Amino acid sequence: MASTEHKVSGHEKIETSNFLMIALVLATVVLGGAVEIVPLFFQRSTTEAVAGLKPYTPLQLAGRDIYIREGCYNCHSQMIRPFRSETLRYGHYSTAGEFVYDHPFQWGSKRTGPDLHRVGGKYSDEWHRIHLNNPRDLVPESNMPAYSWLAKAKLDPTELAPKMRALRIVGVPYQDAEIAAAAEEVKDHSELDAVIAYLQVLGTAVK
Ligand code: HEC
Repeated sequence: MASTEHKVSGHEKIETSNFLMIALVLATVVLGGAVEIVPLFFQRSTTEAVAGLKPYTPLQLAGRDIYIREGCYNCHSQMIRPFRSETLRYGHYSTAGEFVYDHPFQWGSKRTGPDLHRVGGKYSDEWHRIHLNNPRDLVPESNMPAYSWLAKAKLDPTELAPKMRALRIVGVPYQDAEIAAAAEEVKDHSELDAVIAYLQVLGTAVK
């Protein structure tokens, strides 16, 4: 005769206990995450700069901060995926070693406009000057906002040295002399000059 007594298996014990279930799910996620993520911190391909990558100059660095301030990343990614449809349009796919001096990186994911990772050298400075002042002057159907104030806004040269020192702490190899010369380099430049300097260097370390 079959017994009506129900033996509680190990599996059932876990599934019927909120505490055990939560604790074990957390442990699994933490362990699985660690196995996937931790090795990346030690892999040369993700931690070492690609040959030819230089830290941003003070002017480019100032431009990068304006790019972030103006929210350009809300419409532009900087991450070319390794697919034919991407590489035919934008050029060589992005590699991790190109971003080691980016803190934080600007990969983004929203593409209202095109990816900008390899826009460096694609157009002249003058093109960018006209485009940023009013995109419709060059691309009539563009819905990109105009950033006409950038040409009138001067950079604050005193901001650069502290930024570069902070970046040095997280591994960007700035020399003392470069930091000392930063203020002089950005003096009298507009925010527009800085953004253009930044755009023109994007993605140029890899041909
Ligand atoms: C509301 C979305 C939006 C925002 C915000 C935006 N853009 Fe754009 N951007 C576009 C669109 C759409 C295009 C394509 C049409 C054109 O060229 O104007 C574009 C094109 C560009 C291009 C030309 C890319 C190419 O390969 O032809 C550059 C460079 C650019 N944007 C830079 C910027 C910068 C710098 C900022 C921030 C100051 C910015 N964009 C903010 C939508 C945006």
